[in-house]
Amino acid sequence: MSAEPPDVHAPPCGFAYVEGELHAEAVPLEDIAARFGTPCYVYSRAAIESAYRALDDAFADVPHLVCYATKANGNLAVLDVLARMGSGFDIVSAGELARVLAAGGDAARTVFSGVGKTEEEMASALDAGILCFNVESASELRRLADVAARKGVRAPVSFRVNPDVDARTHPYISTGLKENKFGVPIDEAPALYRDASVMPSIAVTGVDMHIGSQITELDPYRDAAGRVLALADRLARDGIRLAHIDLGGGLGVRYRDETPVPLAEYAGVIGDLMRGRRETLLLEPGRRLVADAGVLLTRVTYLKPGPARNFAIVDAAMNDLLRPSLYEAWHAIDAVRPRAGSTVRWDVVGPVCESADFLGHDRPLVVEEGDLLAVRTAGAYGMTMSSNYNARPRACEILVDGARVHVARRRERIDDLYAHEARLPDAARTRRA
Ligand code: LLP
Repeated sequence: MSAEPPDVHAPPCGFAYVEGELHAEAVPLEDIAARFGTPCYVYSRAAIESAYRALDDAFADVPHLVCYATKANGNLAVLDVLARMGSGFDIVSAGELARVLAAGGDAARTVFSGVGKTEEEMASALDAGILCFNVESASELRRLADVAARKGVRAPVSFRVNPDVDARTHPYISTGLKENKFGVPIDEAPALYRDASVMPSIAVTGVDMHIGSQITELDPYRDAAGRVLALADRLARDGIRLAHIDLGGGLGVRYRDETPVPLAEYAGVIGDLMRGRRETLLLEPGRRLVADAGVLLTRVTYLKPGPARNFAIVDAAMNDLLRPSLYEAWHAIDAVRPRAGSTVRWDVVGPVCESADFLGHDRPLVVEEGDLLAVRTAGAYGMTMSSNYNARPRACEILVDGARVHVARRRERIDDLYAHEARLPDAARTRRA
């Protein structure tokens, strides 16, 4: 058996071993692989719903709106599950807005983040009637004011402030330090609010922060939220009253041995800060709602034991799940049907032509060619960061709901790869002699 019992990483619901075989809710993962092939993302509806409910319930005493960060997993079926529960959405592009609307999400519960919104994106979000633009610079404010004025409407605006707080997470996913590109420096915010408050095509509605991702400590939240609320108080003294305070996302999950912030403590700290205030609280969680609700199913193509490393070459790769290559992120990798025998340490790698193409290094497993593996905690930033590198069609996505299996996205076909490309027109096709 593997050195770590496979069910150590099992989330409270969603994926569990039943009679020696890993299931998604009531469905054996072997059945899904046999029907739909591999690599394949599998999500559990119950796991998404229980994560959403846990967060929403933790804030029961605070008037709030959860705006799920679409970038974590934007599949229409996933967005649909969340929209039905009443979730709002955080978007960062016209594409994400279109996904939210196509999934039945409510524009009036949608906030638009990101440092580089284009005029076209602003226009489509104004047309849809979103809740708020999280504006990240003085230039963006002017651009938005122009776009709204041309349409004869008022754009609802929150400034994303950069509180200069260290979220103590991976540098690539830290966003709240003054050297990061995100937000406006908090001490420049009052002047921006004053400017915005007199613009006829702008309606100032809130303030926003997002300090980073995969955060596992409460102090950075406490510090940053304290600064943001102090700003809101100062604005109120200047006569600018906000309708909402958006404290962003960033709550971490357990990939290996991290201790995620307990929701009760997170809600306790924020609840204390919000007590007696008139503004509605907005939250933008991504990973915490969907990471545990997904696995990436992959089959072992070849075993290649070697003098220095042993390679288990699987049919999923960095194009399917980029996190290990990009951040050296650790994801548990478990046999779907664990075998008896002595473990060997395998580097679980894909077929892509890059040494950085790995899903896990040095994993104690008992595997044979043809075995199925489940890469855990892959529901967030898995499929959304996938690509077609090495001309690999993207994986399919399956949403399991009890004993039901829903094809949330069909596997790409080879001809999908170049469906949007074109050879040169005939006249230009003559070869040089
Ligand atoms: N709000 C804003 C403005 C964001 O930029 C993000 C994530 C979120 C909310 C949601 O953060 P979460 O609750 O999921 O931590 N690709 C990286 C994560 C990048 C996150 C970017 N922004 C990863 O795979 O770890």
